[in-house]
Amino acid sequence: MRISIASDHAGFEQKQRLVDYLAAEGHDVADRGPDSDARVDYPDYAALVARDVARGDAEAGVLVCGTGIGMAVAANKVRGIRAVNVINTQFAALAREHNDANVVTLSGRFVELEENERILDAFLSTGFGGGRHAGRVEKIMQLEDN
Ligand code: RB5
Repeated sequence: MRISIASDHAGFEQKQRLVDYLAAEGHDVADRGPDSDARVDYPDYAALVARDVARGDAEAGVLVCGTGIGMAVAANKVRGIRAVNVINTQFAALAREHNDANVVTLSGRFVELEENERILDAFLSTGFGGGRHAGRVEKIMQLEDN
């Protein structure tokens, strides 16, 4: 799967490890930065990944900051994005199955690397359930027009 990934300084270390993890799993990974742990503003990096996904240049987006919260808030400002801040594998799977989330945001400060790897596995391997969820997701997207 083609995946766009980025972080801020607080998520940098885990982002570097997750790039390698995803590549080792056979994904086509676009690392959108940053290249160091120098202080940056997370909305700048959320925008890069969210726009990759919204344009169709990536099938899924991954963002890592201190909590994952700021990244989710920022990414959701981009039309077409359903970003979810996830801290366990069950929510990762449900975010795909019920909400058709296309960006997952992770905490580099409060969640261990190994758990974030499991979260990514669950997020990337779960499909959208459709059915009763489809109309609800459609209604979410219609909110972009109001
Ligand atoms: C940076 O200190 C921190 O605010 C950021 O990484 C993130 O947690 C914001 O939601």
